[in-house]
Amino acid sequence: MIGIFDSGVGGLTVVKEIFKQLPGYQITYFGDTARLPYGTKGADFVKKYSSKITNWLLNKNAKIIVVACNTSSAWASDSLRKKYKNTKIFDMISFAAQDVVATTKNKKIGIIGTPGTIKSNAWSKTLKKLDPSLKIFSQPCPLFVPMVEMGFTTGTVTEKLVDEYLKKIRASKADVLVLACTHYPLLKKVIQKTVGPKVKIINPAESLAREVKKYLMENETINRKMKKGSANKFFFSDEPYNLEKISHMCFNKKIKPIVNDPF
Ligand code: DGL
Repeated sequence: MIGIFDSGVGGLTVVKEIFKQLPGYQITYFGDTARLPYGTKGADFVKKYSSKITNWLLNKNAKIIVVACNTSSAWASDSLRKKYKNTKIFDMISFAAQDVVATTKNKKIGIIGTPGTIKSNAWSKTLKKLDPSLKIFSQPCPLFVPMVEMGFTTGTVTEKLVDEYLKKIRASKADVLVLACTHYPLLKKVIQKTVGPKVKIINPAESLAREVKKYLMENETINRKMKKGSANKFFFSDEPYNLEKISHMCFNKKIKPIVNDPF
């Protein structure tokens, strides 16, 4: 089984991409709705709970771990890899960064994410390692998460807020924009309209899902242990807010939450 975790419901946008690449593979999802949001928490908090959740998923028999939360990826993926050496851990930055470098023509990159993801500088560091000549323009967009969770993904209010947050990125003339937060793919239409059709928008979940598939195709022993066709499970540490709406946006159907806080 593939273990996937996020701070809440947003990680379903990542599950959507995994389902596209690996239909039929069983997943167990954990959304830490009891402690959401991670995006405004400190690094130690995010590391602590990312580790607890990883351990919990491994105890549930996860064979690989997908860190769907961008803030956890930014603050915790290195420490998780050190701690859980025998498990392949996928994060939202490593693979998407390669796609960003391969896509940009003018070497100007826009990154939008939670305050934590932007403050960590994880994206800038990873991109600069791949190409030191890149110019990075980062912008935290803290109101995007509650806006999406309240169902505002289109319309005047959404357009106004997106326009406000993306002013600096637009002025930078970046030709690639990274949606470095689980919720932002649900705003992609409005974001694309705001930055214009020439800007290539990268959803890291697509890069990650391709990489997970590649890994499983190349690692037959792990792939063999993956259950296929069994029921997926969606755990949340507290009642997930607006789950029905978000799961409809991602999969066009309802999912049944299991509410249980193991911590
Ligand atoms: N899942 C988080 C992320 O991708 C966004 C929500 C939160 O702040 O917890 O960074």
